[in-house]
Amino acid sequence: MESFNAYEDTTRAAAYAKLEFPGTYYLAYRDLPEIISEHVRGKKAIDFGCGTGRSTRFLQKYAFDTVGVDISGEMLEKAREIDTHGDYRLIEDGNFGQFEDNAYDLILSAFTFDNIPTMEKKFTILRAMGRLLKREGRIVNMVSAPEIYTNEWASFSTKDFPENKYAKSGDIVKIIQTDIEDKRPVEDIICSDEDYQDVFKRAGLGLVKVYKPLARETEPHPWVNETRIPPWVIYVLKKR
Ligand SMILES: C[S@@+](CC[C@H](N)C(=O)[O-])C[C@H]1O[C@@H](n2cnc3c(N)ncnc32)[C@H](O)[C@@H]1O
Repeated sequence: MESFNAYEDTTRAAAYAKLEFPGTYYLAYRDLPEIISEHVRGKKAIDFGCGTGRSTRFLQKYAFDTVGVDISGEMLEKAREIDTHGDYRLIEDGNFGQFEDNAYDLILSAFTFDNIPTMEKKFTILRAMGRLLKREGRIVNMVSAPEIYTNEWASFSTKDFPENKYAKSGDIVKIIQTDIEDKRPVEDIICSDEDYQDVFKRAGLGLVKVYKPLARETEPHPWVNETRIPPWVIYVLKKR
């Protein structure tokens, strides 16, 4: 499980590079500007698990000075192609040695923890992320809610994987992204709220606030379950 990463793949990277904010992804990013402006002071940011740079470009729109980091060279290659002036860096799994401690106002992680295989790895990465934050810095960690893997959504399907229902926190689950050309299932690691809160605490991080955005009927998206079941969880964390 240690080397598990569905995104070290050129076909997936090419498909992901075309993805902006349709459907269920709109909901993930909808409230981020407000959440960030409520909790984050300063503009120096790391986008952890930047992929093809969608989340990094999102931060740049809000005037952040960004560095996008990822373990997938395939995803980073696309990020650099789209944003030729951006700073995108390949890191070894869990190794933030090239970054200065106590230097960042924000570390955004958009869906990256869905792909980190073990609680121990999550712990190591979160502890390292805490060291990079300034005293008043914040981590905004957006993850998939366990319910995403057992329901249908505007941008995802899980009906072909009834076994997801029996998955326990830490198990592999499968999901298909319907908004991209690459319809091969992605394998994620399901993680309960309880386990996230436990690992945050162990990693020396304080939980500032948890958001579980719900869609509104009036929004122009083909919502399936998004108006009644929150597909995403956004944790705002600080150093303790
Ligand atoms: C679902 S993609 C999200 C990309 C981007 N944040 C976005 O919202 O479009 C998850 C990314 O996390 C990266 N990733 C997974 N494990 C990682 C790790 N240990 N360190 C850094 N990046 C990682 C993957 O390579 C992939 O590019």
